[in-house]
Amino acid sequence: MKKKILAAAFFAGLVTLALAGSFGKQPRTETQKGPYLSWDDDPRTTMTVSWETTIPVSGKLAYGPKGRVNYILRDDQAGTLHHLRIKDLKPDTRYYYQLLNLAAPICSFKTAPKVQRDFNFVIYGDTRTFPEQHKKVIAAITQYNPEFLIHTGDYIQDGRIWSQWQEFFDASRSFSSFIPLLTVIGNHERTADNYLKLFALPGNEQWYSFDYLKAHFVMLNTEEDFSPGSPQYQWVAAELKISRPKYKWLFVVQHRQTFSSGKRGSDKNILENLEPLFRHNQVDVVFCGHEHFYERQRRGGINYIITGGGGAPLYEVNPGDSTFHAESSLHYCQIEISDSAAKVRMVRVDGTSPDSLVLKK
Ligand SMILES: [Fe+2]
Repeated sequence: MKKKILAAAFFAGLVTLALAGSFGKQPRTETQKGPYLSWDDDPRTTMTVSWETTIPVSGKLAYGPKGRVNYILRDDQAGTLHHLRIKDLKPDTRYYYQLLNLAAPICSFKTAPKVQRDFNFVIYGDTRTFPEQHKKVIAAITQYNPEFLIHTGDYIQDGRIWSQWQEFFDASRSFSSFIPLLTVIGNHERTADNYLKLFALPGNEQWYSFDYLKAHFVMLNTEEDFSPGSPQYQWVAAELKISRPKYKWLFVVQHRQTFSSGKRGSDKNILENLEPLFRHNQVDVVFCGHEHFYERQRRGGINYIITGGGGAPLYEVNPGDSTFHAESSLHYCQIEISDSAAKVRMVRVDGTSPDSLVLKK
């Protein structure tokens, strides 16, 4: 998939000044999934648009600023799944885009800022198995209108089954065309082959990092080896060490829990291998899912937030001594970042917020 994006971007570079509407006839098709957005390159100057069509066709999209879609990006290789990276965009700017040769509306997105300002984003996860419950969480998120969204994994019951993914993409249509999604792999993604085909992400796509102003996000794959000596451990150890002095806010996102007051309890492997790295590098918040409830703990000076209330069957939680708040409910987390503070609010689908954390620097 990574090669396909790069090839598309390269070819697109040759034709970006062509005017819309200059293509031959394509077979009649419709969008099966998307369009949906992600960043696999600099969020300030790029946006990757993905979509699936019902039959194999070449991919084409038109885009531009100020409501005009005068620039064309194309992937001439016929296929059903398309990832096109739009490059050379201006920071903090709204762009409009439209998939061509499809009955697709004009959608829009905004690039990440380069100059300091307040921003917000959402973290949620564990959306599997009960799409009607997931839709309630989606409705609440869409109303909040974050600048980007992070999913902590476990999209559907069995990620190996391509048709099941439709459940997630149907539910998330209300935001997917205008809010970029960054994500980590959950155990229900299974072999992750389909996950990796569907999402265009930075680096090796399994563990990677990205920036948004002074916030740095370290995205881990807790389904792959992270024991000392493993490629992922070596990467995360170096990444946290280099990042901590460079960024005001350092967040880790992973699927499995570090500390938990659920029946599963804390994850022994993560406690042994990753928790010392989080503590040593003073990570601001470690977010995860896997446990289908909300829990906020503080351990070793580090904030741990479980946000697994995206629609999957809820689990019981019995708060321990280190728990600030825990509850078993459908929810998501709003995060608002200013130059001096980071505020995390757990929000239920009815809009009420029983817990928040404010970090000041
Ligand atoms: Fe899970």
